Amino acid sequence: MAHRITLIPGDGIGPEVAEATARAVEAAGVDVAWERVDAGTTALAKSGEMLPKAVFESLARTHVGLKGPTATPIAGGHRSINVALRKKLDLYTNFRPVRMLPGLKTRFQGVPIDMFIFRENTEDLYSGLEHEVVKDVVESLKVITRTASIRIARATFEFARREGRKKVTAVHKANIMKLSDGLFLKCCREVAEEFKEISYGELIVDNACMQLVMRPETFDLLLLPNLYGDIVSDLAAGLVGGLGIVPGANLGERDAIFEAVHGSAPDIAGQGKANPTALMQSAVLMLAHIGEREASRRLQQAIECVYAEGKSLTADVGGSASTTEFTTAVISHIQ
Ligand code: NAI
Repeated sequence: MAHRITLIPGDGIGPEVAEATARAVEAAGVDVAWERVDAGTTALAKSGEMLPKAVFESLARTHVGLKGPTATPIAGGHRSINVALRKKLDLYTNFRPVRMLPGLKTRFQGVPIDMFIFRENTEDLYSGLEHEVVKDVVESLKVITRTASIRIARATFEFARREGRKKVTAVHKANIMKLSDGLFLKCCREVAEEFKEISYGELIVDNACMQLVMRPETFDLLLLPNLYGDIVSDLAAGLVGGLGIVPGANLGERDAIFEAVHGSAPDIAGQGKANPTALMQSAVLMLAHIGEREASRRLQQAIECVYAEGKSLTADVGGSASTTEFTTAVISHIQ
């Protein structure tokens, strides 16, 4: 029976990388009945709504989404579609594997980078609680709760145990935000106590950024509140070739949405230049999630073959291939 999956192409380069990824998933031998629904500025233009009801209706049927990036206006305008989706579906774990692809030339070539980022996905400064106290004085509320901190910490340690990983590093700024980040750390320590076989450490976020650049190979699992997780994810993407590479998953108890770390890249949208690797690698995670482990392995292997050959890479990683040429190369390597 076909897997029903919600496909949200999104904005900017979203439709280009989403269609490329859908082609690759089908070529991996998986029978998918895609439910294509629009969100973001694309949806606004078509239906007058940024996040139409159809998105939630489809996800209520499928419980699995593959999503292209959606644009969010800066300093004003509508709230982020991503924040709304993650909160509404309670997708509390943002999971991002950061790994070197074979053959890819980066500043850190030869360094064995292999880490996983676990970012809390529902609260912190993304609560959207901002107000002007008096003219020219604004407050933005950082919300940290025991419930959300415990469950992201538990998701991280459970993954470490399941996958035989060795070390979890919690990242914080509890020297300054003693109550909020203090509570996050307290929860991480409590959960760490239940997983004695996994080593647990803590780093203040500024030091963590420096260590990530100086010694990226020493990191295993990173456990972060929402904002630091967002920033550190892009930093980590830079270590392994940039935003065109790193995949992600938003996971809840019932639903999951798979999407790249990158945004809608308006500077290259519509030019056929976008690198679909990050969304394709997100689809690799998605296929494993829906139980298609063999297809997941096949697709990952095909992506790695294309990088090892180095002949059909997109411009962001030093090649000159178009999105379509890269996709065709991946498909031709699926065995
Ligand atoms: P961005 O990630 O869209 O782009 C940053 C730089 O990386 C640009 O130079 C872009 O061309 C390049 N890039 C990103 N993805 C690429 C790919 N797949 N292939 C080749 N080059 C790629 O970040 P930016 O410019 O800060 O944000 C643009 C919009 O995206 C904003 O509206 C932002 O809110 C939104 N955004 C959405 C996300 C999501 O839907 N999950 C995540 C991050 C940002």
